Amino acid sequence: MDINKKEELEINYWRDSEFESPKKFSKGNLLNKLQECRNLDYKINKHLNIIKNKKSILEIGAGQGWASCYLKSFYLKHSEFTVTDISSYAIESIVNWEKLFEVKIDKYYAAKSYKLSENDNQFDLIFCYAAAHHFVLYEETLIELKRVLKDNGYILFLYEPTSSKLFYTLHRYYVNKMPHHTPEDVILPSRIKLICSKIGLNYENQYDPYQPIIRNIPIGLYFSLIKRIPILQKVLPSSSDLIFTKLKK
Ligand SMILES: C[S@@+](CC[C@H](N)C(=O)[O-])C[C@H]1O[C@@H](n2cnc3c(N)ncnc32)[C@H](O)[C@@H]1O
Repeated sequence: MDINKKEELEINYWRDSEFESPKKFSKGNLLNKLQECRNLDYKINKHLNIIKNKKSILEIGAGQGWASCYLKSFYLKHSEFTVTDISSYAIESIVNWEKLFEVKIDKYYAAKSYKLSENDNQFDLIFCYAAAHHFVLYEETLIELKRVLKDNGYILFLYEPTSSKLFYTLHRYYVNKMPHHTPEDVILPSRIKLICSKIGLNYENQYDPYQPIIRNIPIGLYFSLIKRIPILQKVLPSSSDLIFTKLKK
């Protein structure tokens, strides 16, 4: 699909959604995000060594920005947060999450992952949650994130669907058959590795089939099987956290 068309769908989903539009802070939206908070909390603790003590944080593909509000409220109270998403209709709703988690996000605005209005070398930590597989322009995004990241800073792409080349088409077909409103991609760790060696970022893919939220029984069983047999995680459709570092030259 043409990238402009895809981005238009991403942007307008948030305007038109019955339960996630900025017109109303719906109960369904609240319950859904609170459930996601459990998964985010697990990811934060898993990567706490990287996350703790970081002072300037950027979230990209943040949707309504609930994850940054949660992180600030419970783990990084005194850090400075910048929160972005391609859709201004998504970002508009951040005020609800600020209120709920009793925090103030320092700066938020609509921006594409590969075109941020930020100076070079600004952030200690850049993260996204369940979002990078929507970005499509991975190389452009990683070049831009490297630009705004400080030396020795970290980028975390958390909770991303990943696949080997062998199962890429099947996994992509599957994720797009689920009831989603925007087309989704699946991340190929081998492709990201090539991009990183080209642009000079250190990169590690951590398969993580642990799923605190069981979305349905067959999926729950599938992930508990591949959790027990790590070799399967590399070949079959899986879930990953991607960790990038910008080492000082
Ligand atoms: C599955 S949603 C996840 C949103 C949020 N992280 C959450 O968990 O609620 C993916 C998000 O990526 C955003 N997005 C898609 N393409 C993007 C891009 N190129 N740059 C920034 N955000 C983008 C969408 O608007 C959407 O909010």
